[in-house]
Amino acid sequence: MTPKTVTLAMTGASGAEYTLRLFECCLQNNIRVQFITSQPGQIVAAMETRLKLTGSPQKMKQQLVKYFDADPALISVYSRDQWTAPPASGSSVADAMVVCPCSMGSLASIAIGSSDNLIHRAADVAIKERKTLILVPRETPFSSIHLENMLKLSRLGAVILPPNPGFYHGVSKVSELVDFIVARILDQLEIDNDLSPRWGQ
Ligand SMILES: Cc1cc2nc3c(=O)[nH]c(=O)nc-3n(C[C@H](O)[C@H](O)[C@H](O)COP(=O)(O)O)c2cc1C
Repeated sequence: MTPKTVTLAMTGASGAEYTLRLFECCLQNNIRVQFITSQPGQIVAAMETRLKLTGSPQKMKQQLVKYFDADPALISVYSRDQWTAPPASGSSVADAMVVCPCSMGSLASIAIGSSDNLIHRAADVAIKERKTLILVPRETPFSSIHLENMLKLSRLGAVILPPNPGFYHGVSKVSELVDFIVARILDQLEIDNDLSPRWGQ
């Protein structure tokens, strides 16, 4: 079922363009986004994109509303230590959560259930409530620690969706590689999309 609300967490791995494109697609589908970023996520996003998120959650919300030219009602922003925010509780958990990109640090914290910031707590809640949890882990090469954490989380029901685009459709722009991955995330969320050609069609 198409989600009404998605928790979107951005951590400090490379790949903020995926976050922004996924955010945009959710908004275009009138899906509410509960956004949380780690501090490294903000730093990497500022290096990789033209979105320089700064200040309080309220200020970040204003920046995001402007960036996406979005309906403010569709965007909520929570700080990393906002333990009173909806994603921190199983009683108001969103329909799905995506950690995109997911750093190896956050992957490890989620794998051990440390809940030491709102991103890790929200992922812990998604796991315990058996909601859709999609992790987009970015590192290369992966160490055995990374692989073991991914295997553990996969066995707990999380979808491990590394940003490994295929090239078999013929790629001429970076945005097509971004869309390839975002299309796979949207498919997992059961959000209709035609971002990327489908094999056999
Ligand atoms: C430019 C830059 C790129 C980074 N890329 C990655 C990456 O691709 N994968 C990763 O696991 N960590 C990466 N890091 C390191 C993480 O940001 C760092 O481990 C951080 O503690 C992760 O914290 P977070 O999960 O709370 O965001 C990068 C850091 C910087 C500054």
